[in-house]
Formats: sequence, C-alpha cells, structure tokens
Amino acid sequence: MRWRVLTLFLSLAVAAAGQELERSPFHGDETSIGVGKASFRLRCSACHGIHAEGGKGPPLNRGEFAAGNRDVDIYRVIARGVPGTEMPAYGTRNTEENIWRIVAFLRTFEAVADEPVDGDAERGEAVFWGGGGCGGCHKVGRRGGSYGPDLTRIGRSRSVQHLREALLDPGKDLPAGYFVVKVVTRDGRTISGIGSGIDDFSAQLRDASGKLHSFLREEVESIEREFTSVMPSGYGESLSDQQQRDLLAYMQALRGEESR
Ligand code: HEC
Ligand code: HEC
Repeated sequence: MRWRVLTLFLSLAVAAAGQELERSPFHGDETSIGVGKASFRLRCSACHGIHAEGGKGPPLNRGEFAAGNRDVDIYRVIARGVPGTEMPAYGTRNTEENIWRIVAFLRTFEAVADEPVDGDAERGEAVFWGGGGCGGCHKVGRRGGSYGPDLTRIGRSRSVQHLREALLDPGKDLPAGYFVVKVVTRDGRTISGIGSGIDDFSAQLRDASGKLHSFLREEVESIEREFTSVMPSGYGESLSDQQQRDLLAYMQALRGEESR
C-alpha cells in the first residue's frame, strides 16, 4: 500500500517535471519574451543575427529547428551547446528561467522558408570535387582533404549568407580556432600554414601538404600570427554565377547525414 502511494507520488512528480520541461513556462508572456529578446540580442546575435536571421550560426527565425521542434529540444541545445561546434553551452552561466525566456522569444517566429538558393546541389557537388578544387582541402563525410574545416554538416551550422561570404570573401569571419602562422627562418625562408599552436616561445603549423612544422622563437627570425584566410580568394571570378549558386545549394544541403 505504502509503495503504491509512493509510486503514485513519484509518477505525479515526474509528470509535473515533464510538463514543466516540455514547454517554456513563459510561452506567450509578453514581458518575459521582451526579456528573452534582450538576452538574445546581447548573447546570441553576434552569431545568429540581430533578428535571428542567421550569420555565422544558423537562422533561428524559421519556426523550425534541426535539434527538434519542442520547446524542450531548443532548451537543451541552448543549455548544453553543440559539442565540437561554435555553439557554446549556456546551462552553467544562465538561470533555467532565463533560457526558457529565450526559448519563448524564439517561439514567436512564424515558419519562414529557407533563403532560396537558385542552384542545383548535384551540379554543385560536381564543382566541389572537380573544377572548384574544394575537396582537396575540405572533407564531406569520409572523402576529401583536411587542411580546411570539415564541411559534413556545414548546411546545418551556418546560414546561406555566411556560406556565400566564406566562398567570395574568405577571411571576413573565420571559423573559431583558425589562424595563419608565418615563420621567417634565419636563412630567409618563409614558411606559412594553419597554426595549430602558438605561445611566447614556440609555434606549430600545418602546411598545405598536411606536414606539421614546429619552431622555437629563438631559432628563427620571426613568428607572426595573422587572422587571414588560406582559402583561394578568386572564386568570385574563376567560378561562374551559376557555379557559385550550385555550390551554395550543395553546401546548404550538407546536414551531416554523410557521416552516418
Ligand atoms: C559563437 C557563435 C554562437 C553563439 C554566441 C551562439 N550560437 Fe547558437 N549556434 C551556433 C552554431 C555554429 C550552431 C550550429 C551548431 C551545429 O552545427 O549543429 C548553433 C546552433 C544553435 C541552435 C540549434 C539550431 C537548430 O536548428 O537546431 C540554437 C537553438 C541556438 N544555437 C541558440 C542560441 C542561443 C539562444 C544563443 C545565445 C544564448 C546562441 N545560440 C549563441 C553558434 C552560436
Ligand atoms: C587551399 C585549401 C582550401 C581550398 C582549395 C578551399 N578551402 Fe574552404 N577553407 C579552407 C580553410 C583553411 C578554411 C578556414 C580558415 C580559412 O579561411 O583560412 C576554409 C573555410 C571554408 C568555409 C567556411 C567554413 C566555416 O566553418 O564557416 C567554407 C564554407 C568553405 N571553406 C568552402 C569552400 C569551397 C566551396 C571551396 C571550393 C570552391 C573551398 N572552400 C576551397 C581551405 C580551403
């Protein structure tokens, strides 16, 4: 008898907690939504855009989320972040209430279609692995090079606008952790590549062939760190407008399925 009461009590408690979690307690509440919006502008807009239209991070104004469409799915992504991407975990630096207010704000957007890309993903794929030479530096699934970032789920991580910019104006908004290290040796040679470590005494870099180099400051003439891109910068001219749109359509469609 006692067990039954306890079980009943427990299942009620779980149900209550579940209910609380399923939907934001601030859903539809104007004041809380205003607070959520202010928080969003302060903490999130640098990556997701001031109107949640996307930027370096994906658009959040589509009324639809890759992480799932229940309030609790959105809550979890914000609280835990997305490991291995630039999406930080906010669970430790925010109160639960504050995150729920942001969720209530994100819920105010009506469904909007993705920015249409007037291109053909299949043709884009051909450019990527063929004439564009992108696959020499980028991986999609198991295929491709590893000098540049893995693009397997880039369509999920970034907005179309950011992808276009990455292609036509590389270096404007570098992915986190990417920088160039340029070393001039005592005998006048310059070696540069993507930095994989740098401090007061030494620097490590990977050159375009994938080879790792390590230098001690005292052994070389100079070591410089530059926040520039190593992407070829002429794609605006070497690729036709149609090829650019096809590539964008291809990248927008990359959602991570290739790695499974
Ligand atoms: C430094 C950049 C950055 C900041 C700051 C940032 N995000 Fe993100 N966010 C991202 C990236 C990149 C992704 C995509 C992760 C992936 O590849 O799945 C993402 C993903 C998300 C998603 C999942 C989207 C979906 O469709 O599933 C949500 C929701 C989200 N962010 C909300 C927020 C909120 C709310 C804040 C502020 C409290 C925030 N983000 C701050 C970069 C950022
Ligand atoms: C020489 C190697 C190289 C080639 C070729 C190259 N990339 Fe990149 N790409 C990089 C590197 C390295 C980065 C990141 C840092 C930087 O820009 O230097 C990058 C960044 C990107 C990004 C941004 C990724 C992000 O997380 O925001 C996209 C998108 C991209 N490249 C697409 C392409 C496409 C499409 C092509 C072919 C038309 C291409 N790249 C060709 C090396 C390359």
